Amino acid sequence: GNDSGAAALGTDFDPVPPNTQDRVVIPEGYEQQVVIRWGDPVLHSAPEFDFWNQTPEAQQAQFGYNNDFAGLIPLDNAGIHNLLVVNHEYTTETHMFADYDPDKPTEQQVRTAWAAHGMSVLLVRRDPARGGLSPLPSWYSRRITLRTEFELRGPAAGSELLKTSEDPSGTRVLGTQNNCAGGVTPWGTVLSGEENFHQYFAHADRVSDPETRERMRRYGLGTGSSTRKWERFEKRWDASREPNESNRFGWVVEVDPHDPNSTPVKHTALGRFKHEGATIRTADDGRVVAYMGDDERFDYIYKFVSSGRLKNGRSAHARRHNMSLLDHGTLYVARFSGDSPASEIDGSGELPSDGEFDGSGEWLPLATGDTSHVPGFTAEEVYVFTRLAADEVGATKMDRPEDIEPNPSNGRVYCALTNNSNRGAAGHAPVDEINPRIGNKHGHVLEIRENHDDPTSTRMSWGLLLVCGDPEDAGTYFGGFDKDQVSPISCPDNVAFDRHGNLWVSTDGNELGSHDGLFAVPVTGPERGHVKQFLTVPNGAETCGPIITDDVVTVCVQHPGDNGSGPSDPGSHWPDGGDSQPRPSLVAVWRDHGHRVGEIGRR
Ligand code: FEO
Ligand code: CA
Ligand code: CA
Ligand code: CA
Repeated sequence: GNDSGAAALGTDFDPVPPNTQDRVVIPEGYEQQVVIRWGDPVLHSAPEFDFWNQTPEAQQAQFGYNNDFAGLIPLDNAGIHNLLVVNHEYTTETHMFADYDPDKPTEQQVRTAWAAHGMSVLLVRRDPARGGLSPLPSWYSRRITLRTEFELRGPAAGSELLKTSEDPSGTRVLGTQNNCAGGVTPWGTVLSGEENFHQYFAHADRVSDPETRERMRRYGLGTGSSTRKWERFEKRWDASREPNESNRFGWVVEVDPHDPNSTPVKHTALGRFKHEGATIRTADDGRVVAYMGDDERFDYIYKFVSSGRLKNGRSAHARRHNMSLLDHGTLYVARFSGDSPASEIDGSGELPSDGEFDGSGEWLPLATGDTSHVPGFTAEEVYVFTRLAADEVGATKMDRPEDIEPNPSNGRVYCALTNNSNRGAAGHAPVDEINPRIGNKHGHVLEIRENHDDPTSTRMSWGLLLVCGDPEDAGTYFGGFDKDQVSPISCPDNVAFDRHGNLWVSTDGNELGSHDGLFAVPVTGPERGHVKQFLTVPNGAETCGPIITDDVVTVCVQHPGDNGSGPSDPGSHWPDGGDSQPRPSLVAVWRDHGHRVGEIGRR
């Protein structure tokens, strides 16, 4: 074991080597357990999971498909009882049903898919003696699906752009979908990003109004029928029949897991795009700042600064006040510039002569409440067609901004830029200092320092912490650390922090020939940039939603078996083994003998 004492506090474990095993591989001396799988009970009424006879009624009471973000909200000081909130991003029908015909989905299958989307809320108990996390039946248990009513709130609520034949008020939406990453707020709720909502809408090409068509094109809505063909069963998925329905997705949603009867909210003040997620930092004056990425090649990084101030405490009254903070404030988009000559950014990823990819940046205001800051756009248009407003002000086109999160230990903000095959290609944006590689295959991790360490500042400086890939490739960078000692890392997606301020990064789409996983990396001190792999996930899976507490690390294993084609070629038999079908699941990992994660000898 690595007990030399050289590792930074919290990252003292033997790194897991790159591998392609069909299981979760963890460091020596650690234990693991599947906490909950697709189809396991969430509500009392849930029947036992039966892959071969799945129904909408069963699914809406069971854990949904393709778990992505997970949030843990302690209900006691020792972190024994916790609320667990999990996103179910999307469905993989070919792996979910015994007899799925993509050309002819049945209504039963489509309704099951609607019930497999959304979120789950559960009470879980951490066992301090044995480790691990166990779901408990409780009053908190909740499934949110595509049939759950949401309230649209903030400055665009009630806008003409959000009204449909089903909802002439423009304030009530049935369901949430493509909930990717997210964050736990300081007031104990969960924010969740509606990401690739566009893929569920059909026939954008049949929309007659050219401006509406152009807006839909900018958001990637499809022509012809949709992949899942929901439009055959509900007209709202047909963009030509219900053109405003797609405007009701692509928001940050907020769920209060403390109250299973609460109506979840879609926050229009945070703008509409392919929201990866949203995470909060509170300024010294109590205003809250939400950082957000738009996960698309050449799209943008945003932040929202509230006008109201945080009320302390976890009472229902404080929570109600704090849940309104994200309705009033200013939405900004980021513009970055580099400090090295453009001639030194050659697209290879090799460092410029000043030794760093770095520079400064500004947050450009898009709208404050009902006031637009973008010429030619009303405030409502800024919120509903945020991408077009950000295009207009000249925001910096990034290499797919995924998760972005402020580090509670140093206030710096870390953003995973996962990859961008088109960077520098003909007809696309060229490389620049903040996106320095042509055809960026392995992605990079950006570190932002707000001026005066104030998250409400409109000025910042930035540097790349990691330029990912094989450390033997000259076009990679590991925070200045000795590349002989680091784990290879590719396609960063989610970011999280441990108590010591170490950054933990999970990956999606490893281009180095081994499986995706979870990595820890110190961001300060002599170990800055020392990337160590903590775990790998099974065949075809990506690693999502990491949570790092003192005693347990959890990850969501999303789409295991994606390398296969369906039940006769499942690609993976994880987690149940044998000849079973793969099931997306949440996994807990802990040290044996009750030691703390990454701390040799500490209990
Ligand atoms: Fe759902 Fe951007 O990952
Ligand atoms: Ca530089
Ligand atoms: Ca993601
Ligand atoms: Ca992803």
